[in-house]
Amino acid sequence: MGVDVSHAAIGASVHGQQINTENSSMDRIKIIGGRKLHGTIPISGAKNAALPLLITSLLTPDMLTLKNVPNLADVNLLLRILRNHGLDLTIDGKRAAPRNYPGETFHLSARDIVDTTAPYEMVAKMRASFWVLGPLIARCGKARVSMPGGCAIGTRPVDLHLAGLKALGAEIDIDGGDVVAAAPNGLTGNRVVFPKVSVGATINVLLAAALARGETVIENAAREPEVGDVATCLVKMGAKIEGIGSSTLHIEGRHQLEGAVHSVLPDRIETGTYAMAVAATGGDVVLEGARLDLLQAAFDALGEAGAEISETETGVRVRRNGSGVAPVSIETQPFPGFPTDLQAQFMGLMSKADGTSVIRETIFENRFMHVQELVRLGADIKLHGDAATIKGVAELHGAQVMATDLRASVSLVIAGLTAEGETTVNRVYHLDRGFERLEEKLSRCGAEIERVSD
Ligand code: UD1
Repeated sequence: MGVDVSHAAIGASVHGQQINTENSSMDRIKIIGGRKLHGTIPISGAKNAALPLLITSLLTPDMLTLKNVPNLADVNLLLRILRNHGLDLTIDGKRAAPRNYPGETFHLSARDIVDTTAPYEMVAKMRASFWVLGPLIARCGKARVSMPGGCAIGTRPVDLHLAGLKALGAEIDIDGGDVVAAAPNGLTGNRVVFPKVSVGATINVLLAAALARGETVIENAAREPEVGDVATCLVKMGAKIEGIGSSTLHIEGRHQLEGAVHSVLPDRIETGTYAMAVAATGGDVVLEGARLDLLQAAFDALGEAGAEISETETGVRVRRNGSGVAPVSIETQPFPGFPTDLQAQFMGLMSKADGTSVIRETIFENRFMHVQELVRLGADIKLHGDAATIKGVAELHGAQVMATDLRASVSLVIAGLTAEGETTVNRVYHLDRGFERLEEKLSRCGAEIERVSD
């Protein structure tokens, strides 16, 4: 039986458990470092696939059923935005065993789009919500969507999204920080060549192209597995797409898409994060449901650092016993390279390596906010332009640190797990955006970690 929560306060309780960005804003995570990790960690559905898949539901009046949806603050926030456009949601498949984490099954139905506006108050909180633009223009012929973070072109650009949608025939103006788009006669397929790899722009154009007339070819498309997951779902909905997983996508649009059933792929960033935690603390953990093929570059780096990685029947096993952590230098790259979303965590691991490593960030400027917090824990890190040199230290020491963004905050958790004494990570709401019950998953493997609410 389904549970109709379409008129409930989704942000407060989607799955019957409380995850609320506002209420968790004052929570802290306390860690006593030094415990090895042993056991099993279930890997949740991927946040970065779940978000665009939820948005995909806007493309059809029929029901899209998504399985393995993670319970995250970002998911709940996006649902609020989508409800504003007219989406109805029912959830079923209650957890049979509370000690497991099978993701929830969402039934999403956007029979009528009642509002084609996505206002600043909503979009500003989460960049991915900007991806409603393509589907709204494609289905309704118009949309008004606030630019993420306000007047964002430049520092947080969406130029590639807009250029791609223009190529499909959308007329686009900027008005008071909003993107105002119109395509009264619908969109028409075209060739879109991205000068730079962008996950978001690829998804926005892919979603729009699925309802455009004729064929769209996206060149230099992002190859991230989450893009592939969205494309696979679109195929189930009736779109014809070739080249999934490659950098050239051929999309044959349809006049109307149908409903479908799709399961969100496992979260490779959560997988890599826990793998790095095990490599940092030592121990032996099976990451249940994880897939090696989604994260080869990061697993290669972990192998070089001294972790043993193997595929098991249920997932991926990560071990480090006895040996220290060898220094490994990496550079972030679009998929299949080393993911930028694991850069901070890898730096946490390298902080205690037996030697010096260099980490270069090539995707985002300024993605080094975790450095000063890791230094508070005793790490020896020097920044120079887009690179950081990390001289491994024998010991980190517990301290008060501040989470600054989603991935940065979890690097502090990894460092805290290996530090002597107590580490407190403040501003935990960043973690709740992307990690499902992190402290529970880690403590069940022996970590001394707890959430403290004021
Ligand atoms: C997505 C992921 C994020 C990940 C990132 C890179 C989600 C919800 N977020 O973010 O976790 O870190 O991919 O793997 O899936 N750019 C432009 N113009 C644009 C768009 C992007 O110049 O119009 C630039 C960005 O500033 C950045 C680079 O392209 O330097 C890559 O960004 P992009 O792949 O678009 O990241 P997101 O889709 O926002």
